[in-house]
Amino acid sequence: MIKKAAIIYWSKTGNTRKVANAIKEGLLERDIDIEIMEVNQAQDVDFLNYDLVCLGTPAYHWSPPQEVDGDIRGLPTDKNLEEIKRRIVCDLGGH
Ligand SMILES: Cc1cc2nc3c(=O)[nH]c(=O)nc-3n(C[C@H](O)[C@H](O)[C@H](O)COP(=O)(O)O)c2cc1C
Repeated sequence: MIKKAAIIYWSKTGNTRKVANAIKEGLLERDIDIEIMEVNQAQDVDFLNYDLVCLGTPAYHWSPPQEVDGDIRGLPTDKNLEEIKRRIVCDLGGH
C-alpha cells in the first residue's frame, strides 16, 4: 500500500510542472502523503522514506535536458533502490 510519495520534476516551460501537479492531485485523492520538489532540490532526499517516487522530465533532443541530466546524476545512489516498493519514471516528451 502506498502511503507516502515523492514527485521530483524538472520543467523549463511549465508542461512537466503541470503534469507533476496533476499526478500530485491524483495521489492526494487517494489520501497519499505527497512531497513535490524540483530535481535540484532533491539532492538530500532519502528515497527509502517513500513508497513511490515519480520522476518527471521533458525530452529535449531525445534526452533529458542537460540541466536535469546533471541533477539526476547528482541524486543519492548509496541506497538500495530495490527496496522502494514502486517507482515510476515519467518521460514527458511526445517522441
Ligand atoms: C528545443 C526543444 C527540443 C525538444 N525535443 C524533443 C524531443 O526530442 N522529443 C520530444 O518528445 N519532445 C521534444 N520537445 C518537446 C518538449 O519535450 C515538450 O514541449 C515538453 O512538454 C516541455 O516540457 P517543459 O514545459 O516541462 O519544459 C522539445 C522541445 C524543445 C523546445
